[in-house]
Amino acid sequence: MKKLEIQGGRRLVGSIRISGAKNAALPALAATLLTSERVLLDHIPSVADLKTMEGLLRRLGAEIEVDGERRAIVTREIESPEAPYELVKTMRASSLVLGPLVARTGRARVSVPGGCAIGARPINLHLLGLAKLGATVRQEAGYIEAAAPDGLVGATVTFPRVTVTGTEDLMMAAVLAKGETVLENAAREPEVVDLAKLLNAMGARVEGAGESTIRIEGVDRLHGAEHRIIPDRIEAGTFLVAGALTGGDLTLEEVAPEHLEAVIAKLKQAGAEIEEVNPTTLRVRRSRRLNPVDITTEEHPGFPTDMQAQWMALMIAAEGASHVVETIFENRFMHVAELARMGADIELFGNRATIRGGRQLSGATVMASDLRASAGLVLAGLAAEGTTIIDRLYHLERGYERLEEKLAGVGAAVRRIG
Ligand code: EPZ
Repeated sequence: MKKLEIQGGRRLVGSIRISGAKNAALPALAATLLTSERVLLDHIPSVADLKTMEGLLRRLGAEIEVDGERRAIVTREIESPEAPYELVKTMRASSLVLGPLVARTGRARVSVPGGCAIGARPINLHLLGLAKLGATVRQEAGYIEAAAPDGLVGATVTFPRVTVTGTEDLMMAAVLAKGETVLENAAREPEVVDLAKLLNAMGARVEGAGESTIRIEGVDRLHGAEHRIIPDRIEAGTFLVAGALTGGDLTLEEVAPEHLEAVIAKLKQAGAEIEEVNPTTLRVRRSRRLNPVDITTEEHPGFPTDMQAQWMALMIAAEGASHVVETIFENRFMHVAELARMGADIELFGNRATIRGGRQLSGATVMASDLRASAGLVLAGLAAEGTTIIDRLYHLERGYERLEEKLAGVGAAVRRIG
């Protein structure tokens, strides 16, 4: 199994180009199922999760031409509206095809996603929404079967809790429904806004994405469109932490600083200097010592759960105690035990971690458990004395494009082994 080896203790200096957002590209790919015409997507990062989604689309009947970061996708017909177990078990976001399939064909059969390293992650709210739009939804033999043979009908869906892919799935279901759909307590993440932009370019009528109430006026059909995916705010946030943690000087190009406000504010409090060089370039430096800063993960625009593990790696290096409260996923602390193997002093109590910082970590062999936990371990390895080996590199490959190349380009001693 592939591993990543890091020699810690180097300052990171230089420029990094940020890739397209994995979590915006996933729903965008699913949205191409809503039309028989050609959809051109640009700025698709080369990461494993997107290859999985492309595999699923092909299986459903899509033809995909790949040209670097561009994809030209045509799904003349849905051959069989089924997302099989083999694909859904490797990537839960496969459930994003549920809405588009029911909307386009009146039918979907999608394997029920199982548990995951960060929590139970049910998709009951996607199903509740589809039922509100008139689909009959039942579960049989590990599959969700949704049917609306006469088409979906607009309705008001009030999410009892905010769900990002649930909001996206329902938006895609509603664009071809009869009449108006109102999504209340919708997710406000930039990826939701990006999807709405693509859907509107395809002829949909979506209003209010980015706010808690989204209104969708159904249309009869959607057409082809061209769309460029937004920059990956979590990749950018991870590199901002890397710059701050190593006392480095990093310039991040092709970022969207407006998507990173909560992370930037916390980094400044922690003692990093962050400058918006121009509207798509950020520079991060640190010359002062790191201050302990508490975070609580929240839905956007709050501090993202996808940056929680990376923040912990930073706080280990800060003088004094800080607290991390995880409110989105019930089990997103798998990195804590691994960080402890490197010498971190972190106490866990329910969904709250207390980090007693100011410790010099020492390199060790650690195990990646999920994508962002792995990113936290990479950051810890960059700050540690000696060699860190991160096992199960495939977790990182799911969502970070050419991570070791980007890190090596700014002076990190990192290489792939095994
Ligand atoms: C999205 O997952 C992201 N994935 C995650 O990124 C991210 O961590 C998460 O949003 C939170 O920001 C994609 O966009 C592909 P949720 P999602 O539905 O949509 C509960 C990464 O590392 N819930 O917003 O699956 C759920 O269990 C990944 O890139 C239900 O109870 O997350 C969780 O506690 C990991 N029932 C909370 O809501 C449902 O039907 C928020 O989950 C749906 C969700």
